[in-house]
Amino acid sequence: MTRKQTAVLYDDLFDRFDEGAFAFAVKESERYYALPDVRGKRCLDVEGGAGAFISRLFQAGALEVHGVDIGEKNCVSVLHWNKPWKDRLVVKQGSVESLEYPDGFFDFVHSGGVVHHLVQPEQGFEELARVTKPGGLTVIGVYGRGGLMPFTISVLRRIASLLPYSLVSRVVSWFFSNPYSQYLVLDFLYVPIVHRYREEDIRRWYEDAGYTDITRSRLHARYTYGSLSAHLFHGEGYITLQGRKR
Ligand SMILES: C[S@@+](CC[C@H](N)C(=O)[O-])C[C@H]1O[C@@H](n2cnc3c(N)ncnc32)[C@H](O)[C@@H]1O
Repeated sequence: MTRKQTAVLYDDLFDRFDEGAFAFAVKESERYYALPDVRGKRCLDVEGGAGAFISRLFQAGALEVHGVDIGEKNCVSVLHWNKPWKDRLVVKQGSVESLEYPDGFFDFVHSGGVVHHLVQPEQGFEELARVTKPGGLTVIGVYGRGGLMPFTISVLRRIASLLPYSLVSRVVSWFFSNPYSQYLVLDFLYVPIVHRYREEDIRRWYEDAGYTDITRSRLHARYTYGSLSAHLFHGEGYITLQGRKR
C-alpha cells in the first residue's frame, strides 16, 4: 500500500514537468553530484523522476542506460525526456527492493532520493550493490538527520496529513507556477515514508557490503556544508555517498 501511494504521488508530481522544469532538474542534479567517467559504460539509474540523471549519463557518453522507477507514468516521462537516446535506453517499472537484473550487471549504479522512502531502506541499497559489478561504482543520495529545516518539515507533514492532498496541491500550484517547486513542496509534505541518516550510517552500509573508496559528494545544492549556520539549519544535509565495489 505504501509503495502504491509513493508511486501515485511521484507519478502526479513528475507528470507536471515541462521543458523548463526538466532543464532545472538537470541543473539541480549537477549541483549535487559530479559524474565520474561513464563513457562506454553500462549504467543503472533508479531514481526516475522525469529522468534528469539519465539524460546526464547519456550526455556524458554512457553506452547504455537502464532506468527503473516504481511509477508507471514516471517510466513514460523518462522515455519522453530522453527521446534522443531512446535506442540505448531501457526503462522498466519496478522497485529498487527487487531489481530484475543479474548480479554484477552494471558498471555504474545510481539512486538518489529513493531508498530513504522504503520500508526497509538497507534492502534497497543491498539490491543496488548486488547489480554493481566488481570494480564498479554505486552512488546513493539520502536525507541527512537533524537541523531546523527537517524538523519544520516533519511538523508541516503532520499538518498536511490532516488535509486532503488535492486541496494542498491546488494551493501549492497557486503559489508556485514552476512544476519543479511544486514537486519539492508536495514531496516533502506527502511522501509516505521518510528516513533520515547520519553519514556514518550510510558508510557502514557500504563497508558491510565490501566497498572501498567510499566518498561523499561535497557539491552544494539546496544545502551547504561546513558552516555552523548550515549545520543548524540543515543538520547533516543531503548525503550523496559513492563507493567502489570490491
Ligand atoms: C524524490 S524522487 C527523485 C527524483 C530525482 N532525484 C529528480 O529530482 O529528478 C523519487 C523517485 O523514485 C521513485 N521511487 C520511489 N520509490 C521507489 C522504489 N521503491 N523503487 C523504484 N523507484 C522508486 C519515484 O517514483 C520517484 O521517481
